[in-house]
Amino acid sequence: MNSNLLLQTRNLTKSFGGRKMIDSLNLHVMKGDIYGFLGRNGQGKTTAIRLVTGLIFPDSGEVMIDGHPLRSDFKKAISNVGAIVESPSFYGYLSGYDNLKLMANLIPGIKKDRIDEVLDMVRLSRRAKDKVKTYSLGMKQRLGIANALLGSPKLIILDEPTNGLDPQGIKEIKEMIVQLASERNITFFISSHLLQEVEQICNRIGIIDKGKLLCEATMDELTQTANSKSLEDIYFDLTGKGGDLA
Ligand SMILES: Nc1ncnc2c1ncn2[C@@H]1O[C@H](COP(=O)(O)OP(=O)(O)OP(=O)(O)O)[C@@H](O)[C@H]1O
Ligand SMILES: [Mg+2]
Repeated sequence: MNSNLLLQTRNLTKSFGGRKMIDSLNLHVMKGDIYGFLGRNGQGKTTAIRLVTGLIFPDSGEVMIDGHPLRSDFKKAISNVGAIVESPSFYGYLSGYDNLKLMANLIPGIKKDRIDEVLDMVRLSRRAKDKVKTYSLGMKQRLGIANALLGSPKLIILDEPTNGLDPQGIKEIKEMIVQLASERNITFFISSHLLQEVEQICNRIGIIDKGKLLCEATMDELTQTANSKSLEDIYFDLTGKGGDLA
């Protein structure tokens, strides 16, 4: 096995109500990647992320995380991962710090300093003692990332991390991801609809359509083979320009 492969899915397949929503998915996330997972609404991004984080089980195929099969070696595999799958939910009447303290209680062997460390990493130290109900959406999203960071994971999985944020909020999250990747060697797997955002921060992309992977390549490979087309052009070429109702 390639030891640079941090997350791999092998022929991952999942049906709902007799319909294949994830169809022989083979993802390859390498150490150090900021991987952009793209696809139109309802094509299977969240479902794939739920499979990869062990929230649901596949019908067939497997998920390998840092060489450990998720199904048979769940603890070892999942100990490498921090994730926000649906929007993070916190106790509004508790502070950001106290919310993290509760979460930290679930992680064996975690040091008390780690809470301050992760709050600093997501630039929330100044507001850490304020109640979460006073936080903006962007701050809650950052607290979610702080939570994902608690167990010092190698891989962070984020399902549309900038959804609903204003341009400042989007910029903050993007900068944070790039910084955590370069300074802390954290690998990211991010689903998104925002092609420009993906083009700016991701080095590798995968495009899913009707549960199948249409394409997986580095940004460099894509722009070289596609004659320097923008990601948007490549994406529309592969997934169509819409008009499903036509
Ligand atoms: N628990 C479930 N039961 C039945 N169908 C489901 C279930 N979860 C997901 N689906 C279906 O699987 C398909 C893929 O959904 P999914 O949420 O993974 O898409 P997505 O790519 O994340 O979309 P979006 O961009 O809107 O977030 C959809 O048709 C959805 O209705
Ligand atoms: Mg989704």
